[in-house]
Amino acid sequence: MKDKKNIIIIIAVIFALILVIILARVFVFTPSPVIKLATIPEGEHDPAVWGKYYPLQYKSYLKNKEMAPTPTGFGGSVNYQKSTKEPEILMNFQGMPFGKDYSEDRGHPYSLQDLKETKRIGPESPGSCMTCKTANMIDIYKDMGDGYSRVPLMQLFGRIKHPITCANCHDPASMNLRVVVPAFIEAMQKKGIDVKKASREKMRSYVCGQCHSEYYFAPPDKKVVFPWDKGLKAKETYAYYTEKPAGFEQDWLHPVSGVKMLKAQHPDFELWSTGVHAQSAVSCADCHMPYMRKDGRKYSSHWVTSPMKHVESSCLTCHKQSEKWIMERVKTIQNNVWEMQRTAGTTIARAHEVIGKAAKVSGVNKTELEKARELVRKAQWFWDFIAAENSMGFHSPAEALNTLGLSVDFAHQAIAAANRAAKTHY
Ligand code: HEC
Ligand code: HEC
Ligand code: HEC
Ligand code: HEC
Repeated sequence: MKDKKNIIIIIAVIFALILVIILARVFVFTPSPVIKLATIPEGEHDPAVWGKYYPLQYKSYLKNKEMAPTPTGFGGSVNYQKSTKEPEILMNFQGMPFGKDYSEDRGHPYSLQDLKETKRIGPESPGSCMTCKTANMIDIYKDMGDGYSRVPLMQLFGRIKHPITCANCHDPASMNLRVVVPAFIEAMQKKGIDVKKASREKMRSYVCGQCHSEYYFAPPDKKVVFPWDKGLKAKETYAYYTEKPAGFEQDWLHPVSGVKMLKAQHPDFELWSTGVHAQSAVSCADCHMPYMRKDGRKYSSHWVTSPMKHVESSCLTCHKQSEKWIMERVKTIQNNVWEMQRTAGTTIARAHEVIGKAAKVSGVNKTELEKARELVRKAQWFWDFIAAENSMGFHSPAEALNTLGLSVDFAHQAIAAANRAAKTHY
């Protein structure tokens, strides 16, 4: 009888101990879940403040400060002058700022510093230049509306404190993705798309497309406009620039060939949109901001860099081939595009020279000369559309090669027309 009582006591003690251990685990040892309620006010652009609530995203955002080459050897964030690898740039952009300073881009936290330091800006630069470089653009636009584009950039610098930060892509209250660049919103509106109602999946590309797109400063106010009315391809944007009444005549006059030239600006969104990934609904964020895990928690990497640095999280989620195979595929695509890009670029440089010589011949056939000028303008647009794009053709390999192939042909036609104009063979 006494033994039975003892056994009951022992069992009770064991149960009590187990209970204490369970309760202790729940209340003492479990790390407190991060349910700090975010109270980030609109207008707070310091990423460190946002980072207090979203430490994993913030920590990966800070990695954007690392500067490193990419595993493919293309792109990357090591600052160098592109003309050291492509000397034809010096001829093709002669007489305009990119002929003086055309360096590789780098991570988002540097956008403001690079804007302030580039030799491409001066007292004449319009406020429009800051559109894609800073979160402070949001407040400036709120105060001034489209008028900010006319204000000299130097006068706005006092109000620009932060580079590209969380607010460029997120609504601080809901953390939903948002687009803030007016030109993107307007260009999409013209296509019948209301970005405020866009699906989350679409927003995973739109947040990037608001900046990683071709644009121009529309006269007379230098308002930022995306030339998308006729479509997003090189030939469609060229048609937009060339056909009246919309049109846009020139970014600058080429001093050698006397051609009214256009400069392309990073049409990443445009090239991607023609590729097999866009058609398969693979967004910019799928590759550039893949999901990562830390202590069992899933989050989007905010280290926006070459996806080839983390092929497993960026590509192997869909592709079942080996990492090595994927890497080789990307390199093959890029090497093919690079070769055609150099061919087009050097042929265009020759066309500028030949046209320049032809123009000086007395009795030159003016009609043929103008034909040659129009052809080199077009050739350079097609070349630049791919050269200024950031993926060395990867975002849409077939479209990239087709665009460069046409460019080479236009450049040769330009040389032939200039030779006909001068009745000689340069
Ligand atoms: C299917 C995956 C994929 C998608 C989708 C994708 N990219 Fe890329 N992106 C790449 C690869 C691969 C490269 C080449 C990286 C390299 O050379 O190391 C690249 C390169 C870039 C670069 C240059 C990176 C550097 O280091 O200089 C930028 C900028 C970029 N992409 C922006 C975008 C934008 C904007 C979108 C959406 C409109 C997008 N990408 C969609 C895979 C992708
Ligand atoms: C507010 C405008 C803006 C937004 C939004 C934006 N970018 Fe960028 N991005 C830039 C600018 C400007 C640079 C170049 C910064 C520099 O070189 O100082 C850049 C650089 C990059 C680079 C090159 C980084 C490197 O290390 O070389 C990649 C990759 C990139 N962006 C991808 C993306 C992707 C993907 C998205 C969307 C998730 C995105 N960007 C959204 C403006 C933007
Ligand atoms: C260039 C655009 C861009 C910038 C800048 C940016 N984010 Fe994001 N963020 C995204 C995208 C894209 C997602 C994925 C959203 C989705 O799929 O719904 C995301 C997701 C998130 C999420 C949701 C959870 C997750 O990880 O998917 C949080 C929280 C977040 N970001 C915080 C931040 C913070 C904090 C900053 C600034 C330090 C920041 N973001 C800067 C584009 C951006
Ligand atoms: C969300 C899914 C998804 C992700 C992520 C993804 N891909 Fe793809 N990829 C596809 C689909 C779908 C196709 C179309 C062909 C097919 O079905 O395989 C494709 C096609 C390709 C092709 C064929 C080339 C072309 O453009 O015609 C290459 C190369 C490629 N992907 C490389 C990559 C690389 C490199 C990454 C990572 C940076 C990547 N993919 C990430 C889904 C994805």
